[in-house]
Amino acid sequence: MIDTSAAFDQNTLEYDNWFEKHKTAYQSELLAVQQAIPKNKKGIEIGVGTGRFAKPLNIKFGVEPSENMAQVAEQRGIKVIKTVAENLPLENETFDFALMVTTVCFLSDIPKAFKEVHRILKPKGEMILAIIDKNSELGKKYEKEKLSNKFYQDAHFHSTEEITELLKQAHFEKFEYWQTLTQKNEKEIEQPISGYGKGSFVVIKAQKKNGK
Ligand SMILES: C[S@@+](CC[C@H](N)C(=O)[O-])C[C@H]1O[C@@H](n2cnc3c(N)ncnc32)[C@H](O)[C@@H]1O
Repeated sequence: MIDTSAAFDQNTLEYDNWFEKHKTAYQSELLAVQQAIPKNKKGIEIGVGTGRFAKPLNIKFGVEPSENMAQVAEQRGIKVIKTVAENLPLENETFDFALMVTTVCFLSDIPKAFKEVHRILKPKGEMILAIIDKNSELGKKYEKEKLSNKFYQDAHFHSTEEITELLKQAHFEKFEYWQTLTQKNEKEIEQPISGYGKGSFVVIKAQKKNGK
């Protein structure tokens, strides 16, 4: 099996620095994710990386397979469990919501990971996913250039529809969508807009089905 966290483990500071170099895009992404996060609820970010989303969103728990990425997230005050999304050593029905930001494209088994997230969510708990939509401007660029990108060479990008279908199969319902990065340049921070199809960065929110 390919270890998709290895590139992150070996180039942690380079990854983390992206957010300093692309402050406008980062803020636009953060606003879009923030829109979907329930207030005053217990959440966990799966594939928390260095905590660039968990920290400002006040998410106290994370899951991360790369030791070095996890270490930076811990320095940012997040309690990190060093494991993969497909195998969560967590009790059933523990969290109100789970977040995954640009991590689903690295999972080796998406149905297994979604089943695990479903299991650790409380009844009516929410799953919030942020992806670079493979059909978007940026998605096409990443796909084209991925073999020369150390972080994305093993990534498998998806469309919003594909992720929605996988979430439905994992017994999630009540879908909501927001999008950002609708412009080619990164000059201005964008306010998120609802729906998908225009922005490269899409946030998908879904609820754990009742009784499942
Ligand atoms: C693009 S980074 C995103 C990190 C963070 N969410 C952010 O937006 O900054 C993808 C992360 O997913 C992690 N990852 C790779 N495979 C994973 C898996 N099977 N389960 C959980 N995380 C994984 C990588 O180590 C990396 O930290």
